[in-house]
Amino acid sequence: MNGKTKELLRDKPAIQEDEIGRCLDFALEQVGRNLKEFTCKFKRAFSTDGFYDATENENWTTGFWTGQIWLAWEWAVKSGRKELAEELKKAGEIQIDSFLRRIDEKDGVDHHDMGFLYSPSCVAGYKLTGSRNGREAAIKAADQLITRFHPVGEFIQAWGPMDQPENYRFIIDCLLNLPLLYWASQETGDSKYRDIAEKHIHTAIANVIREDYSTWHTFFMNMDTGEPDHGATCQGYRDGSAWARGQAWGVYGTAMAYRYTKRKEYIEDFKHVTGYFLEHLPSDLVPYWDLEFGEGCDEPRDSSSASIAACGMLEMAGYMEPEDAGYYRETAKKIMKSVADNYAVKSFHESNGLVLHSTYSKKSPYNTCTPEGVDECNIWGDYFYMEALTRLSGEWNPYW
Ligand code: GLY
Repeated sequence: MNGKTKELLRDKPAIQEDEIGRCLDFALEQVGRNLKEFTCKFKRAFSTDGFYDATENENWTTGFWTGQIWLAWEWAVKSGRKELAEELKKAGEIQIDSFLRRIDEKDGVDHHDMGFLYSPSCVAGYKLTGSRNGREAAIKAADQLITRFHPVGEFIQAWGPMDQPENYRFIIDCLLNLPLLYWASQETGDSKYRDIAEKHIHTAIANVIREDYSTWHTFFMNMDTGEPDHGATCQGYRDGSAWARGQAWGVYGTAMAYRYTKRKEYIEDFKHVTGYFLEHLPSDLVPYWDLEFGEGCDEPRDSSSASIAACGMLEMAGYMEPEDAGYYRETAKKIMKSVADNYAVKSFHESNGLVLHSTYSKKSPYNTCTPEGVDECNIWGDYFYMEALTRLSGEWNPYW
């Protein structure tokens, strides 16, 4: 930890057990209230003026709503809310059926986000309740994901039709799609999923982390030689900056890379990427949407990045020596204290989500994204907030 980070974290309060319980109680109530509207439908990727609309099972994001249902189910069971737990389980099963239909019909699955869609929904449902449909859907999703692997360059292509130079790239976010492949190998006994995941992790980590430990959002490979070509942003402010959520995916992604490969070098990568993230936080520990922006600027925050990074720190803490583990666990608690106090929804009238002030994609003069969901709730921000609190509430078996 450098001096700046030490100073930033000094005297910051950490979230306490009773607060974690109260936050999870509110989240459980909110998810429960939402079931009427969002059982046969899904929440959209982001809210409008704090309220989510209903959508079909589309886009890369719907798994995060089903994931909230499963996290709420876990808390309902733990806190003895039997009736609500039963309702949540039924809703989770209905949503799993929708995911099975989606993969069977190949409806909007022509991209790499199979892990984001199928881990918190179908793998979770299978791990928690033994859902056979969940297992079947998630294995089919893993089969779909490996069709995007390029042996030339050894990576999984993120978006767009395959075999066009303008699409020959991966993005840092994909590290969170890979646990689905490890799970599929474990379930089926077929190593092909794990082999591809391992190759992608190696290519991604070797290229996506810059010398100063900031990260590229997207990285192009040479289609003919398989050699690294160049990095570029899509959702960050500019090519050379560090998109806050990209860096947060890097924190959680390197932790997951270690979880599944046990390669020591990924612990060092995790420490470096996390160090850069922490050094670039403003005083309330919740980043602006790009780490280029610092204290006092009037750019919007991305609160989802704070929760994602906290989950990564809590995951990695599980594999570290006590001193390092204590540092990352305590840092995650400080971040979540700020998210809970300053960003979380406090009343059902304010929003039908859980955490305000996230940014999905903000247009800048230098990036290529479509602007949407700026300074709103977003569905993964709500999910990772619940996941971080669940991790802090006791033992938790990850959906990833
Ligand atoms: N994976 C896309 C995003 O984080 O916005």
